[in-house]
Amino acid sequence: MTEKWQVTFEVYRKKDNQQPYYEKFELDVNPDEYVLDGVERIWAYKDRSLVFSHACHHSTCGACGMVVNGVEKLTCITPIREVTKNGGTIRVEPMRNFPVISDLSVDMSEFYARMEAVKHQPVVSISEENSKGKIRVEDDVEELFRLADCIECGLCISACPIAATTPLYIGPAVLAGAQQGGQLLNPCVLEMVDSEDGAWRCHSAYECSEVCPSHVDPGWRIMDLRKKVVSHRLKRFFGVK
Ligand code: SF4
Ligand code: FES
Repeated sequence: MTEKWQVTFEVYRKKDNQQPYYEKFELDVNPDEYVLDGVERIWAYKDRSLVFSHACHHSTCGACGMVVNGVEKLTCITPIREVTKNGGTIRVEPMRNFPVISDLSVDMSEFYARMEAVKHQPVVSISEENSKGKIRVEDDVEELFRLADCIECGLCISACPIAATTPLYIGPAVLAGAQQGGQLLNPCVLEMVDSEDGAWRCHSAYECSEVCPSHVDPGWRIMDLRKKVVSHRLKRFFGVK
């Protein structure tokens, strides 16, 4: 028989210029359902004006990040059983360090724009064999680079204590992206990460790595990025290719 729990969702609400507040919704749930299922049920049966983001429901699109009982979670893979008990409360809030659009939905456009910047890496030349031998067919083109595992959910930024102090900080996901592949060959990316608001701003709190649902380990990547930045700067200084 399916287990049934009664839980209270305490949902952050904010509309336009109103003061934010928390609204309580009582739900009967199966504890093996996910937090996102509960939020969707509130929307479907209790309040159609609730605003939140979601898409894939299987930890791929990165759209359903929220703060659940004070901790950043990808809500489509967070079982209710993991965050409360029968008769307990689940406080659901929008991610921190992003502007709130409405209720649980945040504006991630600035973050996506920064991610785009590190997804392009220069390919110095592409060669091809033909009857005359090896010829160069293209120079200095850019190729879109897939960042290993990152689903661009923004949870790492929400959890980051430095991002909480300044919106100018590039943030863990973007720095983790810049650490991969050959992105630092792109002078724009090198300038961006080797700056006051780049890799040197991080205080190694590792909160980002704690909450990342995709095992990107941005904290480690930022530390490694610093070594790579210094190495690139030295190579440039001494004219080494
Ligand atoms: S690094 Fe991890 S937490 Fe940060 S955006 Fe990518 S997947 Fe999400
Ligand atoms: S809904 Fe796509 S990652 Fe959760």
